Amino acid sequence: MKIVVIGGSGLIGSKLVSKLSEHGHDAVAADLKTGVNTLTREGLDEALKGADVVVDVSNAPAWEDAAVMDFFTTSTGNVLAAEAAAGVPHHVALSVVGTERLTESGYFRAKLAQETLIAESSNPYSIVRATQFYEFVERIAADATDGNVVRLPPALIQPMAADDVAAAVGRVSVGEPVNGMVEVAGPEQFRLDELVRGALRTRNDPREVVTDPQARYFGINPSERALIPGPDARLAETRFSDWLERQLATA
Ligand SMILES: NC(=O)c1ccc[n+]([C@@H]2O[C@H](COP(=O)([O-])OP(=O)(O)OC[C@H]3O[C@@H](n4cnc5c(N)ncnc54)[C@H](OP(=O)(O)O)[C@@H]3O)[C@@H](O)[C@H]2O)c1
Repeated sequence: MKIVVIGGSGLIGSKLVSKLSEHGHDAVAADLKTGVNTLTREGLDEALKGADVVVDVSNAPAWEDAAVMDFFTTSTGNVLAAEAAAGVPHHVALSVVGTERLTESGYFRAKLAQETLIAESSNPYSIVRATQFYEFVERIAADATDGNVVRLPPALIQPMAADDVAAAVGRVSVGEPVNGMVEVAGPEQFRLDELVRGALRTRNDPREVVTDPQARYFGINPSERALIPGPDARLAETRFSDWLERQLATA
């Protein structure tokens, strides 16, 4: 299959292109470096010629409310229009578990707008909603850091390895469009504060993690189960402790 990966140079995109290529597919990365700009549509129509699937794993470069909304709506609109013009029979996009419960944040309002554009288009589609990547835990800590203190609420979180996200997106991409959502998540649940505390301790990071039910997670005060998938989520295998160990061994 010819599978165009929008955001093919990114964290998930680069892993996805490798995995699809290993399975014998013609996986083509489409991103700024390859001359495809989804915001201007430059290079997009050319890249989509003959595609069986387009997988959008791009991300906005700036996360301020207006910028991120503009990115996901303009980019998604252009990709869907180019697919319709080229007759591409399957659009796959990567989104986030719990998006509709997190709309206090401009980032998630933009992801919800992206999902709505896809669902309301006439393009056959599959939306994969993943939980937070293990690779994202450092960014969660950084966003919640004030001086030497990391303040986080004890909300539940069921994160997963980026490798497992890419594998899950790959499996959905080579299947039939579901015209709906598929949830994917990691094998274990943690409390957000405990997860970050454990990760920082393992890395000998001196920051102290303070449990604060009023603390914000990217500007949101998530309810206990806001970040957790439903009972039908497909669960990945890699455990956080094994992933952390491997990261430390290769650092
Ligand atoms: N972080 C999490 O825990 C999490 C959890 C669930 C779902 N997600 C979702 O996963 C998706 C992928 O995230 P990621 O961390 O893999 O992203 P990333 O590493 O930041 O990669 C973003 C990609 O988007 C491309 N891109 C940006 N602007 C573009 C444009 N105008 N035209 C074409 N390509 C453009 C970049 O290309 P260049 O390299 O050329 O700039 C890059 O390949 C996101 O949509 C995010 O919402 C994230």
